[in-house]
Amino acid sequence: MTNYSKEEADTWVAKDEEFVMRPWTHPPGEPVIVAKGRGCTITDVHGKEYLDLTAGYFVNAAGHCHPRIVEAATRQLGEVLQVSGKHGTVAAIRLAERLVHLAPKGLHKAFFSTGGSESNEFALRMARQHKKKPDVAYLENAYHGLTIGSLEVTASDKYRESAGRPLGANTYAVPNAYCYRCKFGPAATCKVECLDGLAAAFDARPQTAAVIAEPIQSVGGLAPPQKWWDRFDRVRKERGILLVLDEVQTGLGRTGKMFAAEHYGLIPDIMTGGKGLSGGVGSLAMTMAPDALVEKFFGGTTPTSGGNAVSAAAGLALLDTIVDEGLIENAARMGRYFTEASWSLKDPWIGDVRFTGLLGGIELVRDIASKEILGKAEVSRIKDLLHEQGMLITVSGTHGNVLRLQPPLIVTAAQIDQFLAVLAKVLPAVRKGK
Ligand SMILES: Cc1ncc(COP(=O)(O)O)c(C=O)c1O
Repeated sequence: MTNYSKEEADTWVAKDEEFVMRPWTHPPGEPVIVAKGRGCTITDVHGKEYLDLTAGYFVNAAGHCHPRIVEAATRQLGEVLQVSGKHGTVAAIRLAERLVHLAPKGLHKAFFSTGGSESNEFALRMARQHKKKPDVAYLENAYHGLTIGSLEVTASDKYRESAGRPLGANTYAVPNAYCYRCKFGPAATCKVECLDGLAAAFDARPQTAAVIAEPIQSVGGLAPPQKWWDRFDRVRKERGILLVLDEVQTGLGRTGKMFAAEHYGLIPDIMTGGKGLSGGVGSLAMTMAPDALVEKFFGGTTPTSGGNAVSAAAGLALLDTIVDEGLIENAARMGRYFTEASWSLKDPWIGDVRFTGLLGGIELVRDIASKEILGKAEVSRIKDLLHEQGMLITVSGTHGNVLRLQPPLIVTAAQIDQFLAVLAKVLPAVRKGK
């Protein structure tokens, strides 16, 4: 049932407040209790429609309830659902085979778990076991998940403190590339000075097994230039440090390539993924590695729901849809369109527009020349007004001033125009204190 009376809808909102634990403070207008999703649109229990620029937290790459995914999942429901992780299903085998063919070369096997955080935990354990070294480096500003092992390589102090105990004696941060706010000068004269200290940082930690990084940092949409990755990769390789690429958010077409590693020609030693891998049906994540690393890896037992057959069947259908409907190309095209159309608003608060495919968003500043960060109150107000007007977004970025705009990869130019028409009214309204 998706049509609720006002009274019923109010009840669901009240019951959410009463019974569902949400361990963060939510602003007015949240949470949206969703009754239905189709394509790029969701409808809440009150019947209000939103253009979903979050894609269900970057999961529904082919849009909500894509018929092909629903059909594949439904078919699998009649076959087998979950088997012990000690065994297997045809759906999971087919998905693993497909991923090995799609992934950067040299990754021979896929291990299925239930979420991106878990997939990174496995990757780090595998790297540490293989190198017989305990330390792991991560990039400043990184987000790799909320379980304890993933928190240890997540940069946010607030998130780290949520563990309730000190974290990370064996982890340390190395510089990322935040080119819009580069301390060293304009892009035209960039000599990747931000990495001048990288070799020394690695050398100070000779027990480093691996460095974990996203090819493009999803928090804030930070895409390093090619020369940044070239230098970074060279320095870590010279020291025999393994590269773990986290493609949980950047993978499966979002950046205009199947995996964002392809933008830079990166060959990871281990690669992780998740989000859309389940086609939005349940939760499925992967850790991929070469035979040489897999052979001696001891993972303990298996995650109970890892590799669920229905999720795997839906994930396969998603991959087919991505390829058959040209969604990678659409992501690249719509990312370019979003960039040009956002700049053309010429709003004095738009400091930077960063899209790689459909990963990224708009960084808001109080003043374009000084790049002064737009305050939290204004950014929250902008988000609230966008929500009021049926535009579902999230806010992100190192300084919490980036409108993260990551719709399903099927989004059209007309839908982007629809969003920007609303944004063009909301920004001046908030400037006027509304
Ligand atoms: C880059 C990255 N890594 C890891 C994770 C954690 O994934 P999950 O929430 O499925 O545990 C996320 C989730 O947003 C992510 O964006």
